[in-house]
Amino acid sequence: MIILALETSCDETAAAIIEKKGGKNNFKFKILANIVFSQIKNHRQYGGVVPNLAATLHLKNILSCLDRAFKKAEILPSEIDLIAVTVGPGLIPALLVGVNTAKTLSWLWQKPLIGINHVEAHLLVNWLNLKSVAHLTKEKENIFPAIGLIVSGGHTQLVLIKDFARYQLLGETRDDAAGEAFDKIARLLDLGYPGGPAIEKTAGKRSGKNKKETVSLPRPMIKSADFDFSFSGLKTAVSLLTKEKKLNEKEKIEVAFSAQKAVIDILVSKTFRAAEIYKPRVIILAGGVVANGALRKEFKKVSASKKIKLAIPQINHCTDNAVMVGVSAGLQWKKGEKNLWQNITAQANKRFV
Ligand code: KG4
Ligand code: ZN
Repeated sequence: MIILALETSCDETAAAIIEKKGGKNNFKFKILANIVFSQIKNHRQYGGVVPNLAATLHLKNILSCLDRAFKKAEILPSEIDLIAVTVGPGLIPALLVGVNTAKTLSWLWQKPLIGINHVEAHLLVNWLNLKSVAHLTKEKENIFPAIGLIVSGGHTQLVLIKDFARYQLLGETRDDAAGEAFDKIARLLDLGYPGGPAIEKTAGKRSGKNKKETVSLPRPMIKSADFDFSFSGLKTAVSLLTKEKKLNEKEKIEVAFSAQKAVIDILVSKTFRAAEIYKPRVIILAGGVVANGALRKEFKKVSASKKIKLAIPQINHCTDNAVMVGVSAGLQWKKGEKNLWQNITAQANKRFV
Protein backbone atom coordinates (compact mmCIF):
# COMPACT_ATOMS: atom_id res chain seq x y z
CA MET A 1 0.00 0.00 0.00
CA ILE A 2 1.10 3.57 -0.63
CA ILE A 3 0.70 6.13 2.17
CA LEU A 4 0.80 9.91 1.90
CA ALA A 5 1.76 11.44 5.27
CA LEU A 6 1.61 15.05 6.46
CA GLU A 7 3.16 16.67 9.55
CA THR A 8 2.64 20.28 10.69
CA SER A 9 2.54 20.07 14.49
CA CYS A 10 5.34 22.55 15.19
CA ASP A 11 7.89 24.30 12.97
CA GLU A 12 8.46 21.82 10.14
CA THR A 13 6.09 21.45 7.20
CA ALA A 14 6.64 17.86 6.10
CA ALA A 15 5.21 15.44 3.55
CA ALA A 16 6.29 11.87 2.91
CA ILE A 17 5.21 9.07 0.63
CA ILE A 18 5.83 5.59 2.02
CA GLU A 19 5.26 2.20 0.51
CA LYS A 20 4.44 -0.73 2.75
CA LYS A 21 5.25 -3.96 0.96
CA GLY A 22 4.56 -7.55 1.83
CA GLY A 23 1.83 -9.35 3.70
CA LYS A 24 0.38 -8.97 7.14
CA ASN A 25 3.13 -10.95 8.85
CA ASN A 26 6.18 -9.95 6.93
CA PHE A 27 6.32 -6.42 5.67
CA LYS A 28 8.83 -3.73 4.82
CA PHE A 29 8.63 0.01 4.45
CA LYS A 30 10.17 1.88 1.55
CA ILE A 31 10.50 5.66 1.61
CA LEU A 32 9.52 7.06 -1.79
CA ALA A 33 9.73 10.72 -0.72
CA ASN A 34 10.67 12.57 2.46
CA ILE A 35 10.28 16.34 2.16
CA VAL A 36 10.80 18.71 5.11
CA PHE A 37 10.44 22.49 4.84
CA SER A 38 12.04 23.79 8.03
CA GLN A 39 10.90 27.12 9.48
CA ILE A 40 13.82 27.38 11.91
CA LYS A 41 15.31 30.48 10.29
CA ASN A 42 11.94 32.27 10.47
CA HIS A 43 11.52 31.66 14.22
CA ARG A 44 15.17 32.21 15.17
CA GLN A 45 14.83 35.96 15.72
CA TYR A 46 12.11 35.29 18.34
CA GLY A 47 14.17 32.66 20.20
CA GLY A 48 11.42 30.04 19.87
CA VAL A 49 8.44 28.92 17.80
CA VAL A 50 5.73 31.57 17.30
CA PRO A 51 2.48 29.57 16.76
CA ASN A 52 0.73 31.98 14.39
CA LEU A 53 3.85 32.47 12.31
CA ALA A 54 4.27 28.67 12.16
CA ALA A 55 0.68 28.31 10.92
CA THR A 56 1.11 31.05 8.30
CA LEU A 57 4.26 29.39 6.97
CA HIS A 58 2.66 25.92 6.95
CA LEU A 59 -0.18 27.36 4.88
CA LYS A 60 2.28 29.05 2.54
CA ASN A 61 4.39 25.91 2.04
CA ILE A 62 2.23 22.83 2.42
CA LEU A 63 1.15 22.50 -1.20
CA SER A 64 4.71 23.01 -2.53
CA CYS A 65 5.83 20.43 -0.01
CA LEU A 66 3.18 17.97 -1.28
CA ASP A 67 4.04 18.76 -4.88
CA ARG A 68 7.72 18.05 -4.22
CA ALA A 69 6.82 14.76 -2.54
CA PHE A 70 4.75 13.56 -5.50
CA LYS A 71 7.46 14.58 -7.97
CA LYS A 72 10.17 12.83 -5.94
CA ALA A 73 8.10 9.65 -5.53
CA GLU A 74 7.08 9.72 -9.20
CA ILE A 75 3.54 8.66 -8.43
CA LEU A 76 0.08 10.12 -8.99
CA PRO A 77 -2.52 10.96 -6.33
CA SER A 78 -4.68 8.13 -7.74
CA GLU A 79 -2.01 5.64 -6.59
CA ILE A 80 -2.30 6.67 -2.91
CA ASP A 81 -4.13 4.11 -0.74
CA LEU A 82 -4.16 5.97 2.58
CA ILE A 83 -3.61 9.52 3.85
CA ALA A 84 -2.07 10.04 7.31
CA VAL A 85 -1.80 13.26 9.27
CA THR A 86 -0.48 14.33 12.67
CA VAL A 87 -3.47 15.34 14.82
CA GLY A 88 -1.56 16.15 18.03
CA PRO A 89 0.00 16.92 20.37
CA GLY A 90 1.23 20.22 19.00
CA LEU A 91 0.35 23.85 18.37
CA ILE A 92 -3.28 24.10 17.34
CA PRO A 93 -2.85 26.78 14.62
CA ALA A 94 -0.03 24.71 13.14
CA LEU A 95 -1.82 21.35 13.41
CA LEU A 96 -4.96 22.75 11.76
CA VAL A 97 -3.12 23.40 8.50
CA GLY A 98 -2.02 19.77 8.08
CA VAL A 99 -5.30 18.34 9.35
CA ASN A 100 -7.43 20.49 7.08
CA THR A 101 -5.23 19.79 4.06
CA ALA A 102 -5.40 16.05 4.73
CA LYS A 103 -9.18 16.09 5.24
CA THR A 104 -9.69 18.04 2.04
CA LEU A 105 -7.54 15.62 0.04
CA SER A 106 -9.30 12.65 1.62
CA TRP A 107 -12.68 14.03 0.56
CA LEU A 108 -11.51 15.13 -2.86
CA TRP A 109 -9.65 11.92 -3.75
CA GLN A 110 -12.03 9.65 -1.83
CA LYS A 111 -9.11 8.07 0.06
CA PRO A 112 -9.19 6.89 3.68
CA LEU A 113 -7.60 9.13 6.31
CA ILE A 114 -5.96 8.23 9.62
CA GLY A 115 -5.01 10.63 12.44
CA ILE A 116 -1.60 10.01 14.02
CA ASN A 117 -0.18 10.90 17.44
CA HIS A 118 3.05 12.86 16.97
CA VAL A 119 4.86 11.50 20.04
CA GLU A 120 3.95 7.88 19.30
CA ALA A 121 5.09 8.47 15.71
CA HIS A 122 8.55 9.51 16.98
CA LEU A 123 8.73 6.08 18.63
CA LEU A 124 7.23 4.06 15.78
CA VAL A 125 9.64 5.40 13.14
CA ASN A 126 12.04 2.85 14.62
CA TRP A 127 9.93 0.12 12.98
CA LEU A 128 11.59 1.13 9.71
CA ASN A 129 14.70 -0.59 11.02
CA LEU A 130 13.56 -3.08 13.63
CA LYS A 131 14.07 -6.21 11.58
CA SER A 132 11.69 -8.34 13.52
CA VAL A 133 8.25 -6.87 13.37
CA ALA A 134 7.46 -9.56 15.83
CA HIS A 135 4.31 -8.02 17.16
CA LEU A 136 2.65 -9.65 14.18
CA THR A 137 4.74 -12.67 13.36
CA LYS A 138 5.03 -14.30 16.79
CA GLU A 139 7.39 -16.91 15.36
CA LYS A 140 10.21 -14.44 14.67
CA GLU A 141 12.50 -13.07 17.33
CA ASN A 142 10.33 -11.16 19.75
CA ILE A 143 11.25 -7.56 20.58
CA PHE A 144 8.80 -7.21 23.45
CA PRO A 145 8.88 -6.09 26.13
CA ALA A 146 10.73 -3.02 24.91
CA ILE A 147 11.50 0.24 26.66
CA GLY A 148 11.00 3.46 24.73
CA LEU A 149 12.63 6.76 25.65
CA ILE A 150 11.07 9.72 23.87
CA VAL A 151 12.98 12.99 24.22
CA SER A 152 11.82 15.95 22.17
CA GLY A 153 11.20 19.67 22.55
CA GLY A 154 7.82 19.09 24.16
CA HIS A 155 8.09 15.61 25.72
CA THR A 156 10.28 13.41 27.86
CA GLN A 157 8.69 10.03 28.52
CA LEU A 158 9.93 6.60 29.48
CA VAL A 159 7.50 3.96 28.29
CA LEU A 160 7.27 0.20 28.69
CA ILE A 161 6.08 -1.33 25.42
CA LYS A 162 4.52 -4.64 26.40
CA ASP A 163 3.37 -5.50 22.91
CA PHE A 164 2.54 -3.56 19.80
CA ALA A 165 0.41 -0.54 20.87
CA ARG A 166 0.28 -1.81 24.47
CA TYR A 167 2.05 0.86 26.46
CA GLN A 168 2.63 1.58 30.13
CA LEU A 169 3.99 4.96 31.15
CA LEU A 170 6.97 4.46 33.47
CA GLY A 171 7.76 8.13 33.96
CA GLU A 172 7.77 11.54 32.36
CA THR A 173 9.07 15.02 33.01
CA ARG A 174 7.51 16.98 35.83
CA ASP A 175 8.54 20.32 34.31
CA ASP A 176 10.63 21.01 31.20
CA ALA A 177 11.25 18.45 28.47
CA ALA A 178 14.88 17.54 27.72
CA GLY A 179 14.83 19.44 24.41
CA GLU A 180 13.20 22.42 26.11
CA ALA A 181 16.05 22.42 28.66
CA PHE A 182 18.58 22.54 25.81
CA ASP A 183 16.62 25.36 24.16
CA LYS A 184 16.39 27.42 27.39
CA ILE A 185 20.04 26.87 28.34
CA ALA A 186 21.18 27.82 24.82
CA ARG A 187 19.16 31.02 25.12
CA LEU A 188 20.82 31.84 28.45
CA LEU A 189 24.21 31.31 26.81
CA ASP A 190 23.23 33.32 23.71
CA LEU A 191 23.90 30.35 21.47
CA GLY A 192 20.79 30.70 19.31
CA TYR A 193 17.81 28.55 18.39
CA PRO A 194 17.17 25.64 18.34
CA GLY A 195 19.22 25.06 21.44
CA GLY A 196 20.04 21.35 21.14
CA PRO A 197 22.18 21.55 18.00
CA ALA A 198 23.71 24.85 19.25
CA ILE A 199 24.75 23.28 22.56
CA GLU A 200 26.10 20.19 20.81
CA LYS A 201 28.16 22.35 18.45
CA THR A 202 29.50 24.54 21.29
CA ALA A 203 30.28 21.55 23.54
CA GLY A 204 32.13 19.99 20.59
CA LYS A 205 34.60 22.89 20.57
CA ARG A 206 36.00 21.73 23.90
CA SER A 207 39.57 20.54 23.59
CA GLY A 208 40.80 17.50 25.50
CA LYS A 209 37.98 15.02 25.21
CA ASN A 210 38.63 13.29 28.54
CA LYS A 211 39.26 16.45 30.53
CA LYS A 212 37.25 16.58 33.75
CA GLU A 213 34.25 18.90 33.86
CA THR A 214 35.18 22.34 35.16
CA VAL A 215 31.57 23.41 35.74
CA SER A 216 29.49 21.42 38.17
CA LEU A 217 25.78 21.27 37.31
CA PRO A 218 23.01 19.36 39.12
CA ARG A 219 21.37 16.20 37.82
CA PRO A 220 17.86 16.66 39.26
CA MET A 221 16.00 13.49 40.28
CA ILE A 222 18.76 11.23 38.96
CA LYS A 223 18.58 9.13 42.12
CA SER A 224 14.81 9.27 42.71
CA ALA A 225 13.18 5.87 42.96
CA ASP A 226 10.62 6.63 40.25
CA PHE A 227 11.18 7.13 36.53
CA ASP A 228 10.10 10.75 36.36
CA PHE A 229 12.41 13.49 35.14
CA SER A 230 13.01 17.14 36.01
CA PHE A 231 15.13 19.53 33.98
CA SER A 232 14.10 22.97 35.21
CA GLY A 233 16.71 22.92 38.03
CA LEU A 234 19.45 22.46 35.47
CA LYS A 235 18.25 25.51 33.58
CA THR A 236 18.09 27.49 36.86
CA ALA A 237 21.66 26.48 37.73
CA VAL A 238 22.88 27.78 34.35
CA SER A 239 20.82 30.92 34.81
CA LEU A 240 22.56 31.58 38.15
CA LEU A 241 25.97 31.15 36.48
CA THR A 242 25.07 33.65 33.75
CA LYS A 243 23.78 36.13 36.35
CA GLU A 244 26.99 35.93 38.41
CA LYS A 245 29.12 37.15 35.53
CA LYS A 246 29.21 37.58 31.77
CA LEU A 247 30.63 34.34 30.46
CA ASN A 248 33.41 34.43 27.87
CA GLU A 249 33.57 32.01 24.92
CA LYS A 250 35.71 29.46 26.76
CA GLU A 251 33.39 29.47 29.77
CA LYS A 252 30.33 29.05 27.54
CA ILE A 253 31.95 26.00 25.98
CA GLU A 254 32.47 24.50 29.46
CA VAL A 255 28.86 25.23 30.51
CA ALA A 256 27.44 23.82 27.26
CA PHE A 257 29.55 20.67 27.68
CA SER A 258 28.45 20.17 31.29
CA ALA A 259 24.78 20.86 30.54
CA GLN A 260 24.80 18.34 27.70
CA LYS A 261 26.53 15.80 29.94
CA ALA A 262 24.04 16.37 32.76
CA VAL A 263 21.06 15.75 30.44
CA ILE A 264 22.68 12.61 29.00
CA ASP A 265 23.61 11.29 32.47
CA ILE A 266 20.01 11.65 33.68
CA LEU A 267 18.52 10.00 30.57
CA VAL A 268 21.01 7.12 30.57
CA SER A 269 20.72 6.51 34.29
CA LYS A 270 16.89 6.38 34.36
CA THR A 271 16.59 4.31 31.18
CA PHE A 272 19.04 1.61 32.22
CA ARG A 273 17.64 1.47 35.74
CA ALA A 274 14.24 0.81 34.19
CA ALA A 275 15.92 -1.84 32.05
CA GLU A 276 17.21 -3.63 35.16
CA ILE A 277 13.65 -3.91 36.43
CA TYR A 278 11.67 -4.53 33.25
CA LYS A 279 14.32 -6.54 31.34
CA PRO A 280 13.48 -5.26 27.85
CA ARG A 281 14.65 -7.11 24.74
CA VAL A 282 15.40 -3.75 23.15
CA ILE A 283 15.65 -0.10 24.17
CA ILE A 284 14.13 2.23 21.59
CA LEU A 285 15.18 5.90 21.45
CA ALA A 286 13.05 8.59 19.82
CA GLY A 287 12.62 12.35 19.35
CA GLY A 288 14.68 15.37 18.34
CA VAL A 289 17.15 15.17 21.23
CA VAL A 290 18.26 11.74 19.93
CA ALA A 291 19.92 13.62 17.05
CA ASN A 292 22.59 14.51 19.63
CA GLY A 293 25.85 12.73 18.80
CA ALA A 294 27.14 12.54 22.39
CA LEU A 295 23.82 11.06 23.56
CA ARG A 296 23.83 8.44 20.78
CA LYS A 297 27.41 7.51 21.62
CA GLU A 298 26.74 7.12 25.34
CA PHE A 299 23.60 5.02 24.85
CA LYS A 300 25.48 2.77 22.40
CA LYS A 301 28.36 2.37 24.87
CA VAL A 302 26.18 1.54 27.87
CA SER A 303 23.81 -0.77 26.00
CA ALA A 304 26.79 -2.68 24.55
CA SER A 305 28.30 -3.08 28.01
CA LYS A 306 24.97 -4.34 29.36
CA LYS A 307 24.30 -6.45 26.25
CA ILE A 308 20.92 -4.85 25.60
CA LYS A 309 19.80 -4.25 22.01
CA LEU A 310 19.37 -0.59 21.11
CA ALA A 311 17.27 0.92 18.32
CA ILE A 312 18.07 4.50 17.25
CA PRO A 313 16.51 6.25 14.25
CA GLN A 314 18.79 7.83 11.66
CA ILE A 315 19.37 11.51 12.51
CA ASN A 316 16.85 13.04 10.07
CA HIS A 317 14.17 10.69 11.41
CA CYS A 318 14.76 11.92 15.00
CA THR A 319 13.68 15.52 14.43
CA ASP A 320 10.20 16.23 13.06
CA ASN A 321 9.40 14.60 9.73
CA ALA A 322 6.47 12.94 7.96
CA VAL A 323 8.14 9.54 7.44
CA MET A 324 7.33 8.73 11.07
CA VAL A 325 3.69 9.64 10.43
CA GLY A 326 3.54 7.36 7.38
CA VAL A 327 5.19 4.45 9.21
CA SER A 328 2.76 4.82 12.13
CA ALA A 329 -0.14 4.79 9.69
CA GLY A 330 1.19 1.67 8.00
CA LEU A 331 1.46 -0.09 11.36
CA GLN A 332 -1.90 1.05 12.69
CA TRP A 333 -4.24 1.01 9.70
CA LYS A 334 -6.49 -2.02 9.48
CA LYS A 335 -7.68 -2.95 6.01
CA GLY A 336 -11.36 -2.31 5.50
CA GLU A 337 -11.46 0.13 8.42
CA LYS A 338 -14.23 2.68 8.08
CA ASN A 339 -13.06 6.06 6.94
CA LEU A 340 -13.93 8.37 9.80
CA TRP A 341 -12.46 11.60 8.49
CA GLN A 342 -15.43 13.48 9.86
CA ASN A 343 -14.10 12.75 13.38
CA ILE A 344 -10.50 13.73 12.73
CA THR A 345 -9.54 16.97 14.44
CA ALA A 346 -6.49 18.68 15.94
CA GLN A 347 -5.79 18.02 19.65
CA ALA A 348 -3.15 20.15 21.38
CA ASN A 349 -2.57 17.81 24.33
CA LYS A 350 -3.27 14.44 22.76
CA ARG A 351 -1.64 11.55 24.64
CA PHE A 352 -0.83 8.04 23.48
CA VAL A 353 0.08 6.68 26.89
O1 KG4 B 1 11.20 16.01 18.06
P1 KG4 B 1 11.47 17.42 17.74
O2 KG4 B 1 12.04 17.74 16.37
O3 KG4 B 1 10.21 18.31 17.93
C1 KG4 B 1 9.30 18.11 18.97
O4 KG4 B 1 8.43 17.20 18.83
O5 KG4 B 1 9.45 18.82 19.98
O6 KG4 B 1 12.47 17.94 18.86
C2 KG4 B 1 12.95 19.23 18.88
C3 KG4 B 1 13.89 19.36 20.04
C4 KG4 B 1 14.36 20.79 20.28
O7 KG4 B 1 14.21 21.08 21.64
C5 KG4 B 1 15.82 20.74 19.87
O8 KG4 B 1 16.64 21.65 20.59
C6 KG4 B 1 16.18 19.30 20.17
O9 KG4 B 1 15.05 18.55 19.81
N1 KG4 B 1 17.33 18.86 19.37
C7 KG4 B 1 18.51 18.49 19.90
C8 KG4 B 1 19.37 18.24 18.81
N2 KG4 B 1 18.68 18.45 17.66
C9 KG4 B 1 17.41 18.83 18.01
N3 KG4 B 1 18.90 18.37 21.18
C10 KG4 B 1 20.16 18.01 21.39
N4 KG4 B 1 21.07 17.78 20.41
C11 KG4 B 1 20.71 17.88 19.11
N5 KG4 B 1 21.60 17.65 18.15
ZN1 ZN C 1 8.49 16.06 17.38
